[in-house]
Amino acid sequence: MPRRAKITIVGAGNVGATTAVWCAARDLGDVVLVDIPELEGVARGKALDLLQASPVIGFDSKIFATASYQDTEGSDVVVITAGFPRKPGMSREDLLSANVQIVTGIAEKIRVTSPEAVVIVVSNPLDAMVYRVWEVTGFPHHRVMGQAGILDTARFRTFIAMELGISVRDVSAMLLGGHGDTMVPVVSCTVVGGIPVTQLIPPGRLEEIVERTRNGGAEIVNLLKTGGAYYAPAAATAEMVEAILRDQKRVLPVSAFCRQEYGVGGLFIGVPVVLGAKGVERIIEIDLTPKERAAMARSISAVRKLVEQMKELCAR
Ligand code: 2OP
Repeated sequence: MPRRAKITIVGAGNVGATTAVWCAARDLGDVVLVDIPELEGVARGKALDLLQASPVIGFDSKIFATASYQDTEGSDVVVITAGFPRKPGMSREDLLSANVQIVTGIAEKIRVTSPEAVVIVVSNPLDAMVYRVWEVTGFPHHRVMGQAGILDTARFRTFIAMELGISVRDVSAMLLGGHGDTMVPVVSCTVVGGIPVTQLIPPGRLEEIVERTRNGGAEIVNLLKTGGAYYAPAAATAEMVEAILRDQKRVLPVSAFCRQEYGVGGLFIGVPVVLGAKGVERIIEIDLTPKERAAMARSISAVRKLVEQMKELCAR
């Protein structure tokens, strides 16, 4: 008898709890929501509340909250959302020293309780946190990845659809690089119903849309004042969980470990991958224009700097 998949989500804050909502609504499996003992009540409250939505929405996923990693044992997918979100004026990089400790502690536990899991990291600064989880768990790199590109392309697609007054479903986009100010929306791979976006939006306006995409997270932080975005980050994460658990072989932008690909040289960074049951099953290399190549090189060096900074912090 096939058993239902087990999805552990670490961090029952806005991103974690909303990821649970999207996963349950798609009936992807049973969800274990984990938080620290001080927040166990909040996590249990959210889990019970979500479970009580199941008769209305019509899903069979069971939702359970806990502060004990024992309950997460044997998870198929682990999503790490724990850590501090940004406040207005902060960059994702400002979160490095606080979040690296939190993420390290979680990775140590997952290594023991779910040694076969595919791990999706959402905590910021994203590309450094994925690297840390990979280092601490010692899992093969295809089973560790970060969620950022689906969110960033979703923002890009939304803004393009708003600009043209058309359905978001007809906008397909690709984005490379780190989840930060250096992200590289690949305009040459962006199409609207199969039509290159450059034939529909003039270059100056397109550049403004790219800029808004780069600042998409900060725009929401500035509006909310009390934390970061969560509906779209959670929806993007659930899309990755689904691709893995249903072995969909989706082609999606994911923060994945690149050795030679794109000249990265051993870092996690946003690239198009084939996402399936094994995790990152393949990295797809695309031809870039000279301008895109230069932007990718800048993004790689920003991520490298961040990872070096993190390694120094961890060595102290
Ligand atoms: C964002 O871009 C949370 O980093 C995430 O909104």
